[in-house]
Amino acid sequence: MDENVVWHNYAVDKDKRNEHKGHKPCVLWFTGFSGSGKSTVAGALESALHQQSVHTYLLDGDNVRHGLCKDLGFSDADRVENIRRVGELSKLMADAGLVVLTAFISPFQAERDMVRDLLDDGEFIEVFLDTPLDICEQRDPKGLYKKARAGEIKHFTGIDSDYQIPTQPEIVLDTSKNSLDQSVTQLVAYLKEKNIIG
Ligand code: PPS
Repeated sequence: MDENVVWHNYAVDKDKRNEHKGHKPCVLWFTGFSGSGKSTVAGALESALHQQSVHTYLLDGDNVRHGLCKDLGFSDADRVENIRRVGELSKLMADAGLVVLTAFISPFQAERDMVRDLLDDGEFIEVFLDTPLDICEQRDPKGLYKKARAGEIKHFTGIDSDYQIPTQPEIVLDTSKNSLDQSVTQLVAYLKEKNIIG
């Protein structure tokens, strides 16, 4: 950081912005293998929250890699940078008062912890999609596991790239055992219990 770059505080801050909202901001951070259900559950939760007039935004790994992160690939270093950028973006969106949902593999504990540390206490909600790898591979919705097994994609998570199991996630979901409705109900109940939504 350049020493001549100085932080500027403005009169309208996070608390003031939140005076106009009927909910608190947070970041629901969905993490898990490709095909584990991150985007599906995050999308269904966003629809349920939207119906309750909660101001949301869903950041999806595939989509963000079409724009903000289109210069990044899937080496460990690029995944670290991907999550750093998305973490900073999530913080800005939480500052704006939104309930942010993110769907990234985010395979490394250190980067997930880095995002947790960026946010205020209780604002980061780590949601681990604990769907077993063999189920994700059977689902293979985009045919990517097949390509990875054939050596056509390198550094594929769970095949030849690491995934570190979350050590202390706030919520654990297994989409091979629970229905989509059950997962959404569990998440909405958590947000109510923590007084994030009414
Ligand atoms: S990461 O690890 O968090 O930076 O990855 P992310 O930004 O979430 O991107 C994952 C999606 O990219 C597609 N894809 C791959 N995933 C894993 N490994 C490799 N090598 C790879 N190549 C492409 C894949 O569609 C992932 O989407 P999801 O929704 O997880 O299936």
